[in-house]
Order: sequence, then structure tokens, then C-alpha cells
Amino acid sequence: MSSSLVQTPAWQALSAHANATASLHMRDLFAEDPDRTQRFTISAAQWLLDYSKNRITTETVDLLLALARQAGLQQWQARMFDGEIINHTEQRAVLHTALRNRSARTIEVQGQDVMPAIHAVQQRMAKFSDAVREGQWLGHSGKRISDVVNIGIGGSDLGPFMICEALQPYAHPELKVHFVSNIDGAHIDRVLQSCRADQTLFIVSSKSFSTQETLNNTKAARAWYLAQGGPEGSIGRHFVAVTSNNKLATEFGISSEAQFDMWDWVGGRYSLWSAIGLPIAISIGMTGFQSLLQGAFEMDEHFRNAPFAENIPVMLALMGIWNSNFLGLPSHAVLPYAQQLASLHSYLQQADMESNGKSVDRDGLAVDYQTGPVIWGGTGTNAQHAFFQLMHQGTQSIPADFILFKQTHTELKEQQQMLLANGVAQMEALMRGKTEQQVRDELAARGVDAAESRRLAPYMAFAGNHPSNALLADALTPQSLGALIAMYEHKIFVQGVIWNINSYDQYGVEYGKQMAKTVLQSLNGDTGNEGAVSGSTQSLIRRLR
Ligand code: F6P
Repeated sequence: MSSSLVQTPAWQALSAHANATASLHMRDLFAEDPDRTQRFTISAAQWLLDYSKNRITTETVDLLLALARQAGLQQWQARMFDGEIINHTEQRAVLHTALRNRSARTIEVQGQDVMPAIHAVQQRMAKFSDAVREGQWLGHSGKRISDVVNIGIGGSDLGPFMICEALQPYAHPELKVHFVSNIDGAHIDRVLQSCRADQTLFIVSSKSFSTQETLNNTKAARAWYLAQGGPEGSIGRHFVAVTSNNKLATEFGISSEAQFDMWDWVGGRYSLWSAIGLPIAISIGMTGFQSLLQGAFEMDEHFRNAPFAENIPVMLALMGIWNSNFLGLPSHAVLPYAQQLASLHSYLQQADMESNGKSVDRDGLAVDYQTGPVIWGGTGTNAQHAFFQLMHQGTQSIPADFILFKQTHTELKEQQQMLLANGVAQMEALMRGKTEQQVRDELAARGVDAAESRRLAPYMAFAGNHPSNALLADALTPQSLGALIAMYEHKIFVQGVIWNINSYDQYGVEYGKQMAKTVLQSLNGDTGNEGAVSGSTQSLIRRLR
């Protein structure tokens, strides 16, 4: 049996509408409707979304809104914000929004208000990050901390890494924050080469405290610290942990005073707002971290309260659903025109693909529609010189988010204008395309003869009609970044609700981890497990052995 979503009235209406409008070109839609841009532009929480360069009409939007209503989106929003157990496979609430709740609202999980514990951890984070930043937290030789190394992977790495990189202009000038995630020893090796043991603080970030990569990198860090002459008795000055599994962290040798708590209702990929954000607080200060939370809170409030048609995360999600489920476009590019957001697409790959990469619905039925798209991207203008050719003239149309900031933190204002011009121009070119006739006219104006221009025209013409969303803010600040990330989190949530999937478990990743354990045993010489894997895998193991 499969899910019945595609048979529902709202879905069927959209399918019929997609067929009826298949030949529309956005070039014509803009030409016919002077109000189009205004109608399809919304703003909130420092962000403006212009989604007019999608292959949509007013009717498309109305039908998509009906789909959101049919899915019971409003009720799902309330269930998430109120701490209900919406991660039904793992029996957990999904409450990253509580971590940035700046109102006096109490939020309960199974009858218990979670806000006092959140505030208590934030106070500890403030005290600790201040002490490190101000040189009061000293290494074993009495020197101040110069390097902070976050050891974590997935959600315990990508979020803080991306934010620290993005907010570099706000970073403490004398503190370097590094990130080690990969089990490949080359990663930690390279980082440690630039550190001194007596001035390095390690943050072991692991919600479960059982992740192979993190535990082994921590063992390597600890061995390095001791080998560099770090006294065993001072380990508490050099290693702290962020975890929801205090028992395992204590057994591992991290004292309870050096542990910052998080909770099972914070999903790993949604955890940068918790103590997993400690490297952020150390880098930009707790005030900066609070601004990040504030930005996210403002987006949360907008998402909870704005009508769907004026709701940025909802409309972003609906454009994604339209592009993927009804126009058949299976991937989505994220293109920040800001070098500091070079890691945004990696962060969003986990946030989106680990959440919505599901093929069974909430009722355990197989889905017969696309769920999470492939998320990828890169920074403008670098991406223009790498993969934009395929976006302009390849056989797939790739919907994209263009993220632009009016101001730059650098002094190079003219370059900023060029950067913005490129981003805006690409969206226009992707939408407009260029007909063969236009190409021939251009070539004729350049003096190319008719035969030659006829020969070249097919190669130089562009179909256009490629969808994009423009996301604009004044500047990349802790607050606008917090709002941007919350916007994407809610977009993912809305899509999960419409696809009727649980966006908050990740059994696929768990399966890979389990298989790696079996293979490791074989690689280490234990032949008992060989029958559990295929001939190809056995052969690879033998070669590697
Ligand atoms: O990648 C799978 C995953 O479980 C993620 O969801 C999580 O962010 C990551 O591993 C790290 O987990 P932990 O914080 O428990 O070490």
C-alpha cells in the first residue's frame, strides 16, 4: 500500500494546473503583469523574499496554499511550538524553537517547563565564554587560551562551523576557532599542527556521546595534549563537553562540571542554538550569540503568526513543492552572494536532506511522490565560473535561492556592487533566457553575416524559464543570519508536513554507522563477519587488509 497524498483534491488540482500551465514562460508572465513582483514579494525579520521568478500564477499560489491547509499546517505548527511529541518514531518533541524563545512564554515537554533549564545553560555558556574571551580561563601553564578546537560531526559541527565562518567580522581578534569532524586523521592532524597544548581548549560536541568520529578524535586530542606535556590533572582546563548523555561523557573522563547540557528534544541538525553553539559564543561573544537567537526568534514569531500567503518559510516551502512535485525538478541550489557563507550549502545539506530524505510517510506507507530534493550550491560569483553553464543550458532546470546582502563588511564597496550586479543579472538571465532570433539580431549588429549567425544561434540561445528565489537583507549580521537559518528550518518543516513524513529521525545514517562497525571488524582481521557482506565488499576489505 502506498500513501494516498497524490489522490487528494489539493494535489490533484495542482497536477491538473501544472499540465495546463506547462507552456507558460516567465518572460511572458512578467510582460503581461506589471504587479507580479509586488504580488510575489514578502518581507519579515530583516529579510525580503521575492519569489516572482518562479513558474507560477496567482492560481498556482492559491492551489499551493490549499495544499498547505489540507495538510493541517497550522495545527502542525502549534504542535511543534507547543512541544508535542511530533518525532513519533523516536518519541521526542522537536523544540529547537524553545532554545531561542525570547518571550515569557513557558514551553512544556510532557508537563515540564523547559525554559528554566535552557536559561541555566545559557548563563553557564555566558560565564564560560566570557572567561575564555577575557583571558580568565587559563591553560595549564597559566597562559590564556589562543585556540579553541570543536570536535564534533554532523549537527555538532556543521552549524557552529558555518556560523563562525559567516560571522568572522565579529570574531574575537586573538582567538582562533577550529573544527575537527572527519575520522580521517589528516583532519585533526592539520588542526593540531597550528596549536599549542597549553593554550588550546577542546570542546567535545556530541549529543549522544557515542559517535565514532567524535570519540576517536577526542582520544587523539587527549593523547596529543599529554604527549605535548599537558598534565593529566589539568585536563579539566582543556577539555569540556556538550552533550545530552552525561553518563557517557563522565565515563569518558569529562568531569560533570565541564559538561554543558542539551536535551533529547533538540535534533542534532537543529542544535546550533543550544550549547552546541558554544564555539560561536566564544568566537563572537555571548551578546553576539544572543543576537543570533533573537534573529531566529523573530523568524519563529513571523512563521507562527503570519498568514501563509505572507509567510516567508511557508512560501519558500511551497515554491519548493511546486518545483519538485509538480514541475519535476529534483534538485535545489543555494547560492549566497557572500563569501562568508561558503559553508551554508553544506549546513543546509544536512538540515534538509537528513530531515526530508524519507520514502515512507508518517503512517509507515511508501510514498509515490518526491520528498527532499538534492540540495547543493556554492558562493556567487565562484559558482558562476563552475556550474552555472549547466544551469543556463543543461537539460535540467535547477531552482535556486540567491541570497544577497546590500552591505559588505569590507572596505571594497565597488566590488560589492559588482557582486550584487552579478547575482541580480544571473537571476534575470536564468529567467529570461534568449531566443534564437535575439541571438541572430545581436550577431547581425556585430556585423556577423546571416549564414554564420544562423549556424551559431542554436548554441548561443537560452531556453530560460529557470526558477529562482531572491532573498535579500541589509547585512550579514548575527541577527539576520539567525533569521535566515530559522527560515530554512521552518521551510524544511513545512515541506515535511506536506509530504506527511517525519523530518526528525535519521535511520538511514544509523544504518550506515552500524554497517561500518561490521566492516571495521573485518578490516581488523576478524573473518567471522564476512558472510554478512557481499562478495564485492569482501573483496574490497581483503584488498584494504
Ligand atoms: O549524522 C547522523 C547524526 O546522528 C546527526 O543527526 C548528528 O548531528 C550527528 O550524527 C552527530 O551526532 P552526535 O552529536 O550525537 O555526535
